[in-house]
Amino acid sequence: MTQPVKNEYYTSTVLDYTHQGLGVVKIDNYPIFVQDVLKDEKIEFKVIKANKKFGYGKMTKLIEPAAERIVPPCEYYYQCGGCQIQPLSYNEQQGFKKGTVEANINRQAKLGVDVHDTIGMASPDHYRNKSQIPVQKVDGELKLGLYRPRSHDIIDIKHCMIQKNIHNDIMNDVRELLKMFNISIYDERRHKGLLRHLIIRSNHDDSEVQVGFITNGHKNPFGDIIKILVEKFPVITSVVQNINMDKTNVIYGSKTKVLHGAEYITDELLGKKFNIRSRSFYQVNHEQTEKLYTEALKIADLKGDETIIDTYCGIGTIGQVAADHVKKIIGIEVVDSAVEDARENAKLNGIDNAEYHLGKSEVVMKQLVADGVKPDVVFVDPPRKGCHQDFLDSLVEVAPEKIVYISCNPSTLQRDLKILHEQGGYSVSPVTPVDLFPQTNHVEAVTMLTKD
Ligand SMILES: C[S@@+](CC[C@H](N)C(=O)[O-])C[C@H]1O[C@@H](n2cnc3c(N)ncnc32)[C@H](O)[C@@H]1O
Repeated sequence: MTQPVKNEYYTSTVLDYTHQGLGVVKIDNYPIFVQDVLKDEKIEFKVIKANKKFGYGKMTKLIEPAAERIVPPCEYYYQCGGCQIQPLSYNEQQGFKKGTVEANINRQAKLGVDVHDTIGMASPDHYRNKSQIPVQKVDGELKLGLYRPRSHDIIDIKHCMIQKNIHNDIMNDVRELLKMFNISIYDERRHKGLLRHLIIRSNHDDSEVQVGFITNGHKNPFGDIIKILVEKFPVITSVVQNINMDKTNVIYGSKTKVLHGAEYITDELLGKKFNIRSRSFYQVNHEQTEKLYTEALKIADLKGDETIIDTYCGIGTIGQVAADHVKKIIGIEVVDSAVEDARENAKLNGIDNAEYHLGKSEVVMKQLVADGVKPDVVFVDPPRKGCHQDFLDSLVEVAPEKIVYISCNPSTLQRDLKILHEQGGYSVSPVTPVDLFPQTNHVEAVTMLTKD
């Protein structure tokens, strides 16, 4: 294997995708990753970085385009870091996601299980029900939008094709109102100024919208803006201000005040109602979340007499959607406002067989096992970093008959499945990718583990 020379040009055919959606080409077996190219395309590229074992390239000529190549539908695509795979037709995007799951589960973890076709969206745009919009003032010009890749420079965006249309409309009005009322804008280099982020969240039919201002300080100069916004968009049923005075990339601070209407918005998911407070996790794609949960419940095949643990439960969605088919639900979640939501949601849905525990899964699960709790089915839906080893140890110890694992990161999914297979003697059922994040390289998947 000879290392290619930086700044030199080469010609090759794209062999595959990385899990980030970059194309893989090889020069004398040395892999080089290139953005915005499709599998099977013949390209000329320049080597821009050459590490010991792999490098990065930039396409300089598209010699033979793939049939699945399309013109990115978004005008900001080549500047913006929000989406990564728009040159791929939606069919190709779904194939890439299935391939990523397959590579992790079968090539990496060698579990040898089937991976189903990706469950896609009917119309893969305007799905995001939560928009987190950074705000900046550069040389006197106000910018609201998304960051450029690997930077904190904001591209001023008027229309994002993955966020809901009403979010685009509100974002554009807020931009003008911030100018009109000369609102102080946060400058992260000097750690001065007030407004850091605008958050817009809505329910599935946009009948309830929450607007959030994240501020560096307690001042509230938003009264006139809120009045004008609510008059134009009566569906804004909640406006909150979250105070974050830390020098950090983390968006939310710990204190939230209600400036107008309710503290939360309410959404409906598979016939159940959910109150969602501003800091609680809620899946961003309603249509696809219903498909994901339906798949999870289908494979769990609940009979009605089971005790289930719904861990990493957020506001209690999965467990409560399953409530009519189980004897008891035990939820575990680390964010306090989400646990508060989950308890309230159980009442809202007339569910009296659910209890919620605040804390880390790895700690609470151990305690539950020590207390003699014997779940029949455990639903696991961790963040990207996957499950903590202590949690997996407790799971192996308590040995539920079924574990339904929902994952937003195939790499930690394969790691955890392998552990449960090797240490717990579980068999892994076929894995189904569900596309929760069209146009981006994020991959969601669901599977079940059963005792042999
Ligand atoms: C991917 S979300 C899933 C939430 C929920 N199951 C749903 O579908 O809406 C992961 C959740 O795990 C929570 N979380 C993160 N680390 C945790 C931990 N160590 N223990 C318990 N919950 C945790 C997060 O706050 C978040 O609500």
